[in-house]
Amino acid sequence: MVSALAVQSLYKVFGNRADEAVTRLADGQPRAEALAGLSATAAVIDATFEVRPGEIFVVMGLSGSGKSTLIRMLNGLVRPTRGSVRVDGVELTTLKPAALRKLRRDKISMVFQHFALMPHRTVLDNAGYALEVARLPKAQRRERALEALRMVGLEEWADNLPHHLSGGMRQRVGLARALAADTDILLMDEAFSALDPLIRREIQDQLLELQAELGKTIIFITHDLNEAMRLGDRIAVMRDGRIVQIGTAEEILTDPANGYVAQFVADVDRTRILTASSVMEKPQSVLDIGAGPRVAAKALRETQTSVVYVTGPQKKFLGTVTEDEVSAALREGRPNLDGYVSTERVRSVGADTSLADLFADSAASQHPVAVLDDRGRLAGVIPRITLLTALAAASPDPTATPDESSTDDTTAAQPTADAATAALTQGDVKLVGTTKGEPA
Ligand SMILES: Nc1ncnc2c1ncn2[C@@H]1O[C@H](COP(=O)(O)OP(=O)(O)O)[C@@H](O)[C@H]1O
Ligand SMILES: [Mg+2]
Repeated sequence: MVSALAVQSLYKVFGNRADEAVTRLADGQPRAEALAGLSATAAVIDATFEVRPGEIFVVMGLSGSGKSTLIRMLNGLVRPTRGSVRVDGVELTTLKPAALRKLRRDKISMVFQHFALMPHRTVLDNAGYALEVARLPKAQRRERALEALRMVGLEEWADNLPHHLSGGMRQRVGLARALAADTDILLMDEAFSALDPLIRREIQDQLLELQAELGKTIIFITHDLNEAMRLGDRIAVMRDGRIVQIGTAEEILTDPANGYVAQFVADVDRTRILTASSVMEKPQSVLDIGAGPRVAAKALRETQTSVVYVTGPQKKFLGTVTEDEVSAALREGRPNLDGYVSTERVRSVGADTSLADLFADSAASQHPVAVLDDRGRLAGVIPRITLLTALAAASPDPTATPDESSTDDTTAAQPTADAATAALTQGDVKLVGTTKGEPA
């Protein structure tokens, strides 16, 4: 697949003798050594990655790790000291200023954390600003700006001035401005970082919804791990100018590249990131609906289990048949399992269901939960004990008290791991789904 954006051995050193610094860094000298005596700052060191069309690629790192410098090199706002940036196959580092401006207009828009809306212009005019700069006729501008405002749910505010809007709404105007430009690539630099947690969560949801509809290529920068995990198809973790790991949230959690990343992700609620597919097991006995009860009985005997998972045409999961029913079918001389398959005893979930969302299903299932792929085929099963073991592994320090003052909005109003464990082990399903701190 062609990448929407490709970065190869990219460096940015600010200050004097930048080239010399890059040469030293490229020779493998550590950052401090390479910069010694040069009065230079190495903001981005040897970055290489590709972003796929339609992907949300998150760049995460602490303040000062080089995120903004990196993203600004992607649209030519910062000129790289060395390396290559390709947008749709076009090498950006060789473009003349006019060609760069055109590229920013046609291909890449940017949403900042604090971009000033023009206070004396309406929401509509603010949303259509990029189109005005591109000299689009007024009627067309209006139409596209209105459409963008509709996407972010602000159509009715079009004629208001920015000061009538809340902070979250103003940020949505910023998003609308980028959407109105209708570029394939969106760069978002800490776009939601100034918003308070609830509003922020809302606008994250809205971005995900829009993304599902529009399929833009988004490079999203954040210093917030939970935001990164929520939004990113893949995440690049930056430290001191270097990308230290690129992977899915799950990959980064389960296999951190080094101690720095491990520390960074130590506080994440893994049960919200790890998915059914990461813990599921091969089902012991799976039979086609056409199989006879004799075959089923043999399968149960051989696997020493008490339930058969039954599939139909195209291997679609149909339900389960128990030991007792297999016996009954045998007694009655039935030719196959038809008529005995039940969907009652076992819940089925999608392969990308988070462990946290599995608790209730697991508690309500008499037998291992069925995990289905996106075509409804049986991909695996999750016995309750497997879920509990995964849960225990996901919370390395069960004695740690949860931080009540935490602003971690992604876990708010969700059952805590402890509550869920208790619910599972006690078979008390009611606990699951109650809000943290609320009596069950
Ligand atoms: N224009 C500049 N001139 C000199 N140093 C800069 C400039 N922009 C950024 N830096 C330095 O580069 C490093 C990375 O900054 P930045 O890319 O803004 O990081 P982040 O966005 O991750 O906070 C910091 O040490 C910062 O001080
Ligand atoms: Mg920054």
